[in-house]
Amino acid sequence: MPSPEEVRARFPSLAAGFAFLDNAGGAQVPGTVADAVRRYMEETYVQVGGRYPQSLRATDTVERAREFTAMLMGGQGGVVALGPSTSVLLRHLGDAIGLTLRPGDELVVAESNHEANIGPWVRLERLGAKVVWWQPDPDTGLLRAEDLDGLLTDRTRVVALPHASNIPGEEEDLAGAAARAHAAGALVVADGVAYAPHRRMRVADSGADFYAFSCYKVFGPHLAALWGRREAMEGLAGPNHFFLPKEPVSHRWELGGVDHEACAGWLEVAGHLAFLAGREVCDAAALDAAYKEIRRLEAEPMALLLDFLKARPGVSIVGPRSLGPGRLPTVSFVSRRVANRDLVDAAARAGLGIKHGHFYAYRLMESLGLEPNEGVTRVSLAHYNTAAEVSRLCEALDPLLG
Ligand SMILES: Cc1ncc(COP(=O)(O)O)c(C=O)c1O
Repeated sequence: MPSPEEVRARFPSLAAGFAFLDNAGGAQVPGTVADAVRRYMEETYVQVGGRYPQSLRATDTVERAREFTAMLMGGQGGVVALGPSTSVLLRHLGDAIGLTLRPGDELVVAESNHEANIGPWVRLERLGAKVVWWQPDPDTGLLRAEDLDGLLTDRTRVVALPHASNIPGEEEDLAGAAARAHAAGALVVADGVAYAPHRRMRVADSGADFYAFSCYKVFGPHLAALWGRREAMEGLAGPNHFFLPKEPVSHRWELGGVDHEACAGWLEVAGHLAFLAGREVCDAAALDAAYKEIRRLEAEPMALLLDFLKARPGVSIVGPRSLGPGRLPTVSFVSRRVANRDLVDAAARAGLGIKHGHFYAYRLMESLGLEPNEGVTRVSLAHYNTAAEVSRLCEALDPLLG
């Protein structure tokens, strides 16, 4: 089991003591990832599809990046496409599904989604589709799968939800939602962005028909992935140019190709996960061990933070107040007495990176009764954060929160 210090030593950006506690916005990368991007650009920076050695290497890099992503997602039997961001990939998915809709078709959309899994569906209203809002609990921001029973009809074509929201930081009942959606004949589109850095994805068994996450939140470069059940992906047009071959199916979705150097860097995340697992190779067993380790490393700093916040008068935590099987280390809160801006400024003066606002979960802020631009203060931890950093944060906030 690596110590937190050994883990941190792999991340050059953290070497000078930068206490980065805004990881749900995007994680730091191991040095091996940054080195691979540079090496790729110096040695292999050509287009794919050629027959010369550099181009063969480029093609191989992108193909291996897709294969690694499929393994990381537990996506056996499905199709993985890479892209610049989850927002872009879900927009393409929404547009492709939109081409199959008829006026009056319904789309059930969780209000607790990041806008990346809302905008693509609201946009389809111009084609005559109807968005049906799935409201979260107004106190916790969490969804109840049972609430779908009153929302699904024989016109429902899509149910769009987060596997975990980037605000309350709790795993949602994706399987329960999917069972209900499928019984009504609807497709399930899950946003795994806030889940993937903390828990092992098993998308093929999750109940989702489509599942997206962002590699740059999982210690990699700015890349994202969309997985889909093969029949579901094959049945859609995808945004890529009309004259390109329709097979492999992933190519239909990778409009204009993917960022090759990011693929090279992303492949090194496999090595980091193998390191966490204490293995040579990143296979399914190593992923189990790596995510167990991630969870172990995250638990103590998260418990410290929750205990500190629970004991502060006038502070409300949005989401679960204590550790549990589904609790992720994304901790959002508001104080009745202190403005979010004052809290993040105090943290910044102490050299700690946290933020406040709506974090693009704009509609969730409204359902929680919060002014979206004020939003919440969010502290989001990754496995390389330490209890010492959280203690520093608590010391910085204590004079304000009392
Ligand atoms: C829960 C969640 N979903 C989707 C996104 C959008 O991801 P991307 O930046 O890759 O478009 C984010 C980004 O913060 C997020 O936190």
